[in-house]
Amino acid sequence: MATAISFVLCGLLVSFHLILCSKNEGFAFGGGQTFHTVQVSSLLPSSVCSPSTKDRNKSGSLKVVHRHGPCSQLNQDRANAPTLTQILSDDQSRVNSIQHRLGFNEAQNYFHGSQATLPDRSSSTIGSPNYIVTIGLGSPKRDLSLIFDTGSGITWTQCLPCKKCYKQQEPTYDPSASNSYRNITCKAPQCSQLTSATGISPGCATTTCVYGIQYGDSSSSVGFLGFEKLTLTPKDVFPNFIFGCGISNRGLFSGSAGLLGLDNDPFSVVSQTASKYGKYFSYCLPSQSSSTGTLTFGKGGTTSKNIKFTPSPVNPKNPQFYFVDINGIIVGGKKLPISKSVFKTPGTIIDSGTVITRLQPEAYAALRKSFREALKDYNMTNGTSILDTCYDFTNYDTVQIPKISFLFAGGVEVPLDLAGILIGSSLSQVCLAFAGNSKASSVGIFGNVQQQTLDVVHDVDGGKIGFGTAGCS
Ligand SMILES: *[C@@H]1O[C@H](CO)[C@@H](O)[C@H](O)[C@H]1NC(C)=O
Ligand SMILES: *[C@@H]1O[C@H](CO)[C@@H](O)[C@H](O)[C@H]1NC(C)=O
Ligand SMILES: *[C@@H]1O[C@H](CO)[C@@H](O)[C@H](O)[C@H]1NC(C)=O
Ligand SMILES: *[C@@H]1O[C@H](CO)[C@@H](O)[C@H](O)[C@H]1NC(C)=O
Repeated sequence: MATAISFVLCGLLVSFHLILCSKNEGFAFGGGQTFHTVQVSSLLPSSVCSPSTKDRNKSGSLKVVHRHGPCSQLNQDRANAPTLTQILSDDQSRVNSIQHRLGFNEAQNYFHGSQATLPDRSSSTIGSPNYIVTIGLGSPKRDLSLIFDTGSGITWTQCLPCKKCYKQQEPTYDPSASNSYRNITCKAPQCSQLTSATGISPGCATTTCVYGIQYGDSSSSVGFLGFEKLTLTPKDVFPNFIFGCGISNRGLFSGSAGLLGLDNDPFSVVSQTASKYGKYFSYCLPSQSSSTGTLTFGKGGTTSKNIKFTPSPVNPKNPQFYFVDINGIIVGGKKLPISKSVFKTPGTIIDSGTVITRLQPEAYAALRKSFREALKDYNMTNGTSILDTCYDFTNYDTVQIPKISFLFAGGVEVPLDLAGILIGSSLSQVCLAFAGNSKASSVGIFGNVQQQTLDVVHDVDGGKIGFGTAGCS
């Protein structure tokens, strides 16, 4: 079957890819075609929400939507949705901040708690991260749509009375309207733990612990540390959840009510629900802005049987991040000539909040070279922001895009969805959705564009991460 398809494809592509096709015969990875044949019209985002039909109606399962897609309740302000250029620029700001946290001792106080040192960009539109889940907070329970972020720890929501809040879709959470909210005092051990979790020493307002957290150079949240009842699903309720009641918030979050932190620091949802779920969660990010994915806590979230696990031991220097080992990249059925040490020396993290995957410079150069070679018959256009390999597809009905797989340690091959390969704002500029780090010593980041439609399983205590295909369909 696979051979037949491959044969037909090669037959159709004689003028373009004959050499590549014939070369691949006999050793195509993943056993099949080495190209995606893409209807160009399908590259345009849909305006209709078509939710996932997959039954994952299990305890602890939440719906994940793209913030600016038609399935998002936050999408009513479409005119203000950010442009690709803005998303990419905000993404770079996030990546800079992650590199900073990884490169320096985590406890180093690079943000001095003074809001005056932050550039004022409260009016800037949202960029990354861009997936949303809705949780319940307080008694009576209020539904809040939060950004889903495996690259950060503390969960916070905007709180009344706001000193400075950005616009959000849902009514702002009011601690005085909840009979389960309690301030955490400055003397409480949870307050002193903040320094190592956020990199910022806590403050004190009368006797209440004040947290501050900064993301990139343009986003931050400051407010009171509190206990509150967290309701993930009717069966999954956590009475003493520690969160940030943010009274001064700015940056890339607008529309959402705040952020759901899923990294491995002590304040994250993952750590705070460990007694019930054992630091085990899985998710699938939907491929198009028109469909939905899921976030599931505990085992039993993934229904695909094809999950393969790669080691992800806790990194002692940066225990809050989820590391993976990339061993190689396959493009159009052919493994790129990249030495394992290129990936291994700085390492790679997986992050749901970074948009575009960042590769080590040598790895990106090899990927770009191979991709450009495969698309040499299409017209290239100028790049945009961090993307330097873009094409004009306006004159085509279909295009041929080489398949791309990532090889992770433990012999795990993960084929990317087509959505994980291309990104663009119009058919006249469709780009390879990867970028290179500027330094060989910078950590790689496996971002959310590449994770689309994959089942991603975090078994934190088990020290491994699983990948499966067709996760949201
Ligand atoms: C999920 O569970 C709810 C409540 O038990 C039920 O009403 C709903 O139909 C279920 N959905 C699916 C897709 O099974
Ligand atoms: C929490 O502490 C702040 C600052 O001291 C105070 O303004 C607020 O009223 C307190 N909230 C509750 C519910 O005690
Ligand atoms: C590619 O670019 C050339 C030169 O600008 C133009 O003449 C040609 O029509 C383009 N081809 C396609 C398929 O867009
Ligand atoms: C591409 O960049 C060049 C140089 O900056 C500029 O002159 C040209 O107009 C750009 N082309 C397009 C299609 O934007």
